[in-house]
Amino acid sequence: MTFTAHDQQSAILVDEAALRFHLKTPSTSYVMGVVNGGWLAHLYWGRAVRRWNESAPVRYADRGFSGNTDKNDRTFSLDTAPLEYPSYGSTDFRDPAFHFRWEDGASVSEFRYKGYEVKQGRRTLEGLPHVYTEQEAEAETLTIQLYDELKQVSLYLDYVVFPDYDALTRSVRVVNEGDEAFTVEKLTSANVDFRSGDWELLSLYGAHNRERDVERGPIRHGSTVLESRRGASSHQLNPFFALVSPDTTETQGDVYGFSFVYSGSWRGAVEVDQFSTSRVQLGLGTLDFSWEVTPGSSFQTPEVVMVYSSAGLGPMSRTYHRLYNERLIRGSWKGKERPILINNWEATYFDFDEQKLLAIADEAADAGIELFVLDDGWFGRRNDDTTSLGDWYPDTKKLPNGLKGAAEKITSKGLRFGLWMEPEMVSADSELYRSHPDWCLHVPGRRRSESRNQLVLDYGNPDVRNYIIDKLTTVLEESPVSYVKWDMNRNMTEASSRLLPAHRQKETAHRYMLGVYEVMETITTRFPEILFESCAGGGGRFDPGMLYYMPQAWTSDNTDAVSRTRIHYGTSLVYPPSAMGSHVSAVPNHQVGRITPLQTRGHMAMDMNLGYELDPTTFTAEEKAEVSRQTARYKELRPLMQFGELYRLESPYEGESYAVLRTNADKSEAVFLYMHRLADANAPFIRVRLDGLDPDADYRVVDLDQTFGGDELMYTGLDIPMITSDFQSFLWKLEKIT
Ligand code: DGJ
Repeated sequence: MTFTAHDQQSAILVDEAALRFHLKTPSTSYVMGVVNGGWLAHLYWGRAVRRWNESAPVRYADRGFSGNTDKNDRTFSLDTAPLEYPSYGSTDFRDPAFHFRWEDGASVSEFRYKGYEVKQGRRTLEGLPHVYTEQEAEAETLTIQLYDELKQVSLYLDYVVFPDYDALTRSVRVVNEGDEAFTVEKLTSANVDFRSGDWELLSLYGAHNRERDVERGPIRHGSTVLESRRGASSHQLNPFFALVSPDTTETQGDVYGFSFVYSGSWRGAVEVDQFSTSRVQLGLGTLDFSWEVTPGSSFQTPEVVMVYSSAGLGPMSRTYHRLYNERLIRGSWKGKERPILINNWEATYFDFDEQKLLAIADEAADAGIELFVLDDGWFGRRNDDTTSLGDWYPDTKKLPNGLKGAAEKITSKGLRFGLWMEPEMVSADSELYRSHPDWCLHVPGRRRSESRNQLVLDYGNPDVRNYIIDKLTTVLEESPVSYVKWDMNRNMTEASSRLLPAHRQKETAHRYMLGVYEVMETITTRFPEILFESCAGGGGRFDPGMLYYMPQAWTSDNTDAVSRTRIHYGTSLVYPPSAMGSHVSAVPNHQVGRITPLQTRGHMAMDMNLGYELDPTTFTAEEKAEVSRQTARYKELRPLMQFGELYRLESPYEGESYAVLRTNADKSEAVFLYMHRLADANAPFIRVRLDGLDPDADYRVVDLDQTFGGDELMYTGLDIPMITSDFQSFLWKLEKIT
């Protein structure tokens, strides 16, 4: 084959004559081609190959019960070909990538290859979060046009290749060039027809307080669907999964990661068919979703970030971390060290006044904490969770000097001031709801189901968005706020908008999400110096969509050090440590009742973005000294903890221990963290093999005052002291000897 259209340095190689498209990054090749007179086939995705010469072409055979698009060729069926963006209703019986309902009610479509375009850089996805470039040269985009002659509708498949980041993204745009409106019922962002079915599926399921638990198992014939139908990316399943070869570990195996840059309902699916090929899809949720595309208009999907690793899960995660840290997270906090915070939620819940806050702030400042966050309960008449969401003005009973007065007193102690808000919600008992009962999602005549006593504002409504933007702007302009925790504490029910006509009701949930993104874009642009942390009852919306607007997220409401081993491990599969909030809280722990040592709680919180969520006015002298030691240590290690390259060493899913190592870019420094859950009597000795070091260099383990070779530490391992009690942990710094 001759790939002539683009030079060999290009990330996108095209063979014009054979119509083959070869996308290339250092680790991976992704190849498509036009087969049998117009169908776009998927040919390969995997380890990078220098040249595509079709050593394994698509093979055809006459297969029973798989109809033919050309009656003279019984060997070709869409049902048996590996397709790039398969359609419904004309011989492919597998899960279609898209589903349109035409004006006549039929859903059959026939999209054939029409053309392609290669461009330097990438197109911005207006109104949608996406991986961006800082310079055009960082990315190349291949757009392939598929066309339905009868309906005059085009599908544009966008492939953005980021060679330096070893990743590619995919999204789809449907454009109505005809003269009849139609309805999109499904439009997946990425579809990959793998030519084998010998995979395991790894996904992150969970619940409130138990987010992103790793689950892995063989896929079976038939479909496996992973989805959220909640109007949020959800605690229950994160919008990420990977197909892995059965031998996959942290350091070996074929891994294909799919991560969806979206915060609302989503759907992922893997279907293994009769010939054991597997079709993988990821995109917008399909239940109660549709979108009308009128003549001359278009619809754009969010994007999926696809990462391949031939060397296991570790490299996949580090690729996502670097890409998300550098080309998803934006603004003045991108790459910048995050402050150590104290949050008053678990210290006081709703029961506080200015004096109490100032007492907490005094102790916090003394202990080396840098930011004070005032959580829920500072506004309206909010003494519990039954009231006042929407009434964004300070409760002067609790804060007699207003928010401004309290904030100024706190900042005068040398702390920054941060504030909690939940701008997408309204309490039934609120002034806002009493004056605008129609501003929440609801179906006339039906019950408005409450969850945590609250309703969801209709962010598809511009009046709602403008009202919220005004209120937030006032609050943030009036007080010296340098951090905002943007919370969201329920999922959608009665997802219906009063602004939409009957046939567009199913657009409500996606319009809501677009509205949220618009408000977030406005507020974060208006207040560029504020550090925003997204939250949804902990990690109910921990997704790349949110990270585009808010560089960190509250990982989980569960602050227990043991639970956190699993949560950190699972979350770190995709999301960078810089994005994860992690707090030391009081014992017995408020979520699980467990008592763990303060040192271990400190270590597990330092694993990500360190914060405290307890009442420091109750500290003993010893506790106060320990917390001061922790904040001092964290400040020293912070660049590594937040932005170092992460190597997972011991999985809490496999045994009692959790161990990770971070290195800086030139591997001259590293930090090793080890946490052991339950101790055992007369237990075997423990040795952990490190990873990510320079094998040719020597390293001093500073805390042990011992020196070892990098090779020795990685191939032989590092001894862990005898574990003599539950929940012991160690945090050791390593320095390369020069
Ligand atoms: C849920 C959050 O996850 C908590 O941290 C806290 O902010 C509460 N909401 C406040 O209502």
